[in-house]
Amino acid sequence: MPEPKALPFSARDATCPFDPAAELYELQEREGLPRVPVPSPIMGEFEAVELTRYTDAKDAMSDPRLQMGFVFDPEQPRTMMNQPGNLLNYNGADHRRLRRMLTSAFTVKRIRGLLPKIEEIVDSRLDALEAAGPGADIVHEFSTPIPTLVICELLGVPYEDRESFQRRAKIGLDVNTTREEQIANLAEMDAYMGRLVAEHRRSPGDNLLGSVVRDFGDQLTEDELTGIGNMLLVAGHETTASMLSSGVALLLQNPDQLAVVRDDPEAVGDAVEELLRYCSPAIALPREAAEDMVVNGQWIEKGERVVTSLLVANRRIPGAEGDLDVLDVRRTPAPHVTFGYGPHQCLGQQLARAELRVALPALFKRFPTLALGVPEDEVDYRTTALVFAVNKLPVTW
Ligand code: HEM
Repeated sequence: MPEPKALPFSARDATCPFDPAAELYELQEREGLPRVPVPSPIMGEFEAVELTRYTDAKDAMSDPRLQMGFVFDPEQPRTMMNQPGNLLNYNGADHRRLRRMLTSAFTVKRIRGLLPKIEEIVDSRLDALEAAGPGADIVHEFSTPIPTLVICELLGVPYEDRESFQRRAKIGLDVNTTREEQIANLAEMDAYMGRLVAEHRRSPGDNLLGSVVRDFGDQLTEDELTGIGNMLLVAGHETTASMLSSGVALLLQNPDQLAVVRDDPEAVGDAVEELLRYCSPAIALPREAAEDMVVNGQWIEKGERVVTSLLVANRRIPGAEGDLDVLDVRRTPAPHVTFGYGPHQCLGQQLARAELRVALPALFKRFPTLALGVPEDEVDYRTTALVFAVNKLPVTW
């Protein structure tokens, strides 16, 4: 087995996986914009301009000349990076057309309406965790099931199918796969989601897919509906599961901060923002220059690919209070870019926040003696995928 490739734009400190590698900080200080090799199952290795500075990252993500690097191309084989309906495969008016069909499902008000359901799901997973112990894997019992159950509920996807769709999501986000694996993986995703979409066409259900079919079905092809479903199913559980696991791991290593999350309901919102800033689980936002351009005095040529390093950008936010290399849940929230910025900013961010705000305090209240079940340096982190994650998080109580 070849060694999994680490991603240069998300390199992490050898001793602390939550910290960016020293070379990323050095790049922030260096003049000019470096070009780095990026491994890709679809394109092989390619070179990209790496943006590590916060203002460069924000400028890039909101600049219409820097477009999504992978635009849906019907001539190319379909993969998760090339599928109709996936918002991340569109720019400009094409992107706006699709996004506006989905925004109403993710407003603060709509997410507030989901809170009782989220609380019920969290309670049921706390019961399951208790039944599995004393001593269990947080990833398996808690942080993966919660966002998976929520997105299943929202989309109308059967939870019983989770093992297969979770496996496909992992493959889709793994850069250490081949082009053939990615093509086969999307074919499986399409076959699965295509069947659900066909059912909703016959009889639109009382859920997000059903309402998109009801409200916009005549403006969307089957392929687009399938791609929308695939995108939401993957985006809806992988990143939030990662944040829940990372949040638990970090707080167990910082008991005074854990106490804030557990005991002060007023502080939970800000604490979650700090955890989001500090972890930045989505690591690479790829773009491509549609024309020659200058970013902070540096040339980027038309056709050049660009990646932003959110993790390190979030550690140097101009004007933010305190030392941003330190986790401090009492900090006035820094305006992080963990959910991206600009037209593609995360559609599901209010949902992710709601899940984190409910699940983290509830866990620490139910298990006041919760502790890591392995030494800190033995926690199994996944650092080579497009979403940083924890593979296993054994805990005791
Ligand atoms: C902590 C959890 C999450 C994180 C850190 C996260 C992060 C991100 C980031 C960084 C982007 C921007 C990608 C880019 O500009 O290239 C994004 C986009 C997106 N996210 Fe999330 N996300 C999270 C949860 C969710 C959830 C729960 C959903 C849906 C249920 C979701 C749905 C989406 C969608 C649909 C997009 C594409 C938006 C567009 O292109 O217009 N995300 N997310």
